[in-house]
Amino acid sequence: MRFDIISVLPELLESPFAHSILQRAQKKGIAEIQVHHLRDYAHNKHKNVDDYPYGGGGGMVMSIEPFANCIEALRSKRTYDEIIFMTPDGEVLNQTIANELSIKQNIIVLCGHYKGIDQRIRDVFVTREISIGDYVLSGGELPAAVLVDSVIRLIPGVLSDETSALSDSFQGELLDAPIYTRPADWNGHQVPDVLLSGNEALINNWRHDMALERTKKRRPDLLK
Ligand code: ADE
Repeated sequence: MRFDIISVLPELLESPFAHSILQRAQKKGIAEIQVHHLRDYAHNKHKNVDDYPYGGGGGMVMSIEPFANCIEALRSKRTYDEIIFMTPDGEVLNQTIANELSIKQNIIVLCGHYKGIDQRIRDVFVTREISIGDYVLSGGELPAAVLVDSVIRLIPGVLSDETSALSDSFQGELLDAPIYTRPADWNGHQVPDVLLSGNEALINNWRHDMALERTKKRRPDLLK
């Protein structure tokens, strides 16, 4: 799977993909992530990527040409399944959307800044608009990193234990049960006995009960 991310601040996207699971996915050749500097596609004298809004009002608007130039350059090399714009007014990212995207081949992600992007970019190129939650960030780079992480970790072979993505909170309808590691007794705080019992059936039952209880308490909306 390949992600092409178009950004005016590519430096913001260096670290999130350079470590741990996402780094391993790229080294294994399962995922490719390319970040493109929008300014390289601004073919005007000052390499401007934004301009004043028609109709007045404050803030700058990201121009159509640099995005169009970059998207066309990418599309001349391969076909894209989706062109996603990260925006707080998009559909809110959830595990279902991450699952849907994890079976695609090539995805372009557009990161906005300033007051927003020219509506015609959205009308002409964008196939899907995604928000990472009901709050506003300074730009689309952190949301793009969140999206890419949530998708790539679902591709088979990326996580060393494939079942661990399947047992994540939200992958079923329940949140995760509590988890523990050594020591079994920390200053009198004990790990539940059942986890030390070695009885797999009992442990699975306990985990299911705890997951249900946690979901009822914290996210009753997840229980249909
Ligand atoms: N850009 C700014 N805020 C955002 C959000 N919450 N989700 C996606 N993109 C954004």
